[in-house]
Amino acid sequence: MSNSAKNAGMEASMSAMDAIYHRRAVRDYAPEKIDEAVIRKLLDAAVHAPTAIHEEPWAFAIIQDKALLKRLSDNVKELLVSGADPIHPLLRGHGAGRFTSPEFNAFYNAGTLVVIYGRPLGPFVVADCWLAAENLMLAACAHGLGTCPIGLAVAALNSPQWKKELGAPAELTAIAPIIVGKPVGATPPVPRKPPEILCWK
Ligand SMILES: Cc1cc2nc3c(=O)[nH]c(=O)nc-3n(C[C@H](O)[C@H](O)[C@H](O)COP(=O)(O)O)c2cc1C
Repeated sequence: MSNSAKNAGMEASMSAMDAIYHRRAVRDYAPEKIDEAVIRKLLDAAVHAPTAIHEEPWAFAIIQDKALLKRLSDNVKELLVSGADPIHPLLRGHGAGRFTSPEFNAFYNAGTLVVIYGRPLGPFVVADCWLAAENLMLAACAHGLGTCPIGLAVAALNSPQWKKELGAPAELTAIAPIIVGKPVGATPPVPRKPPEILCWK
C-alpha cells in the first residue's frame, strides 16, 4: 500500500460500500474552510481513479476565496439568465427561476470548490475526470464531508476569462466542478430506480 493510501486510511475508516450508500448531494454547508491537508487527501484519492491508457488527463483548481466563489456564482447565474448556458433548457421543470434568484448561490455557500479539468488527450478524458470526481466525493464522505457536483458552473468555468483567472491553460476543459464542505444537518437519500437489466445471458 502506498504511503498516501495508508495516510488516507488512518483518518477515514468508512468502508467503500458505506461511502457509496451515504454520499449525498449536499446543498447546505457550515461556513468553515476545510484544511489544506484534507483537501490534499481528497485530491490524492481523486488521482487514484482508473484512467484510460493511463493518461491521467486531469488537473485541479481549488477555490476557497469567498469573494471569488460569489463572483463565479453570479457569473453562472448571468449565463443562465442570458440563455448563453446550453444547460438552460434542461432546467425547465426543475424550478429554473430558483437558480437565477438573487438569494441563490450556485455553490450553496460551500467553502471549497474543486474544479477538475481535462487535458485534450482523447475520447475518455470526460470519463476519467468524472471517475476522479467520484473518488473525491466518496473520500470526502469517508472524511465526514459533504459534496455536490455543480454542472451549472461548467459553462462559466470554460469561458476564457475564468480559465485565465484560475490559471487553466486554454486547451484544458473544465469538466467536473465539485463543492466540498462540512454539511449542516442530514441530507435525506434520493431514491433510485432499480437497475434496468437489458440482458443477462
Ligand atoms: C454531472 C452532474 C451535475 C450536477 N449538477 C448539479 C448542479 O449544478 N446543482 C446541484 O444542485 N446539483 C447538481 N448535481 C447533483 C444531482 O442533482 C444529484 O446527484 C441527484 O439529484 C441525486 O442526488 P444524490 O446525489 O444525493 O443521490 C449534479 C450531478 C451530476 C452527476
